[in-house]
Amino acid sequence: MDYLSITGPSRLNGEVTISGAKNAALPLMAATLLCDRPVTVSNIPDVADIRTLLKLFGKLGSRFDFENGTLRIDNSALSSTTATYDIVKTMRASILVLGPLLARFGRCEVSLPGGCAIGQRPIDLHLKALEQMGATIEIKNGYVVATAPDGLKGARIIFDKITVTGSENIIMAAALAKGKTEIINAAREPEVVQLCEELQKSGVEIEGIGTDELTVYGTDRQPVCLRDFAVIPDRIEAGTYLCAAAITYGSITLKNVRPDHLDAVTAKLQEAGCRIESDTNTLTLHPAARLRAFEISTTEYPGFPTDMQAQFMALATQAEGVSIIEERLFENRFMHVSELQRLGASIHLKGNTATLHGPIQLLGADVMATDLRASSALVLAGLAASGVTNVHRIYHLDRGYENLHGKLATLGAKIERLKE
Ligand code: UD1
Repeated sequence: MDYLSITGPSRLNGEVTISGAKNAALPLMAATLLCDRPVTVSNIPDVADIRTLLKLFGKLGSRFDFENGTLRIDNSALSSTTATYDIVKTMRASILVLGPLLARFGRCEVSLPGGCAIGQRPIDLHLKALEQMGATIEIKNGYVVATAPDGLKGARIIFDKITVTGSENIIMAAALAKGKTEIINAAREPEVVQLCEELQKSGVEIEGIGTDELTVYGTDRQPVCLRDFAVIPDRIEAGTYLCAAAITYGSITLKNVRPDHLDAVTAKLQEAGCRIESDTNTLTLHPAARLRAFEISTTEYPGFPTDMQAQFMALATQAEGVSIIEERLFENRFMHVSELQRLGASIHLKGNTATLHGPIQLLGADVMATDLRASSALVLAGLAASGVTNVHRIYHLDRGYENLHGKLATLGAKIERLKE
């Protein structure tokens, strides 16, 4: 197993190119299952979650090649509609194949994802919505077995909670359903917007894109073939590099970024004292004279993203005053707290709220990554800490960050990827 060894403190400076968004690429790749002709998708990040979905596609009988961030995929002759346990247990976003497979083939079997490091994360809302669209859902041997032999029918779906992959699954299912599907309380994340836009360019009529009320007019099982397109830039990767610069009092320019997708993140960085400049697809952060404490409450887009909560907690260790961070989406997304405390952070955790006192001179230590974004918080803290920080179990980082240590090294970090 590999680990990252970081010698700090360092100051990051320079330019970095942001990769395509993993969380946009996954549903868009799933949407190619709606199509019976080859599709080409570019700007896909080469990260473990993408490779996992490709492994699942291989098991379904897809033909594809993936090189230099470009995927050419042909789902015209699939041989299976089953997403097996070995794949789903490593990546719960595999659930994204449920909607498109069921809509196109009238049945599919997807292993139940079970719990994960950041909490229970049920899929009840995905299943309830598909039932409303006429599917029969049974749980058999740990699998969701979904059938709709005569196809799915349009329905009015009201999500009890805003769910990103739930909205994406139902949008894809609705694209091939018979008639009109209304989705109320839909997620508005940029990744959901791109999925709608690409489906629309392929001939699916969708109203309300970018709002929380979507209307999708289904094709009644006529295949929907995505036109060739590029995945949007990864706003979470971008936010992570902004925090890396901010925590080390460095200056950074991000290229291939969508500044408008980062408004909630850059607003908090400005509150902390950093200066931000942007144009259409670049964004520059100038360091704070002195980082100031801030308050964060995670929420759905366009609010502050839960996927940036851990990185901002690392940043709060260096900010002067009392920072308060409330996690409102996931019940157990504070696994990084005890690891940050190993580096010397002053964090008091009560319920879903963390209170931090800063700034603290962090001291390097061995720490353990627990989930994807928690791991990046440990790397950021390691950049600010004096001495050596070894971040273990970085397979979590590999799930979502393309060449993290290479990009940080280019920016001036003293970082090595080593074998245990
Ligand atoms: C997606 C993102 C993840 C991000 C999260 C929230 C992908 C691949 N992953 O995850 O990085 O952290 O959005 O922005 O895009 N819920 C239910 N029942 C359901 C579905 C969800 O109760 O059927 C709850 C969840 O437990 C959670 C909340 O709804 O409390 C939001 O979860 P959701 O938006 O579904 O997260 P994901 O789509 O899994």
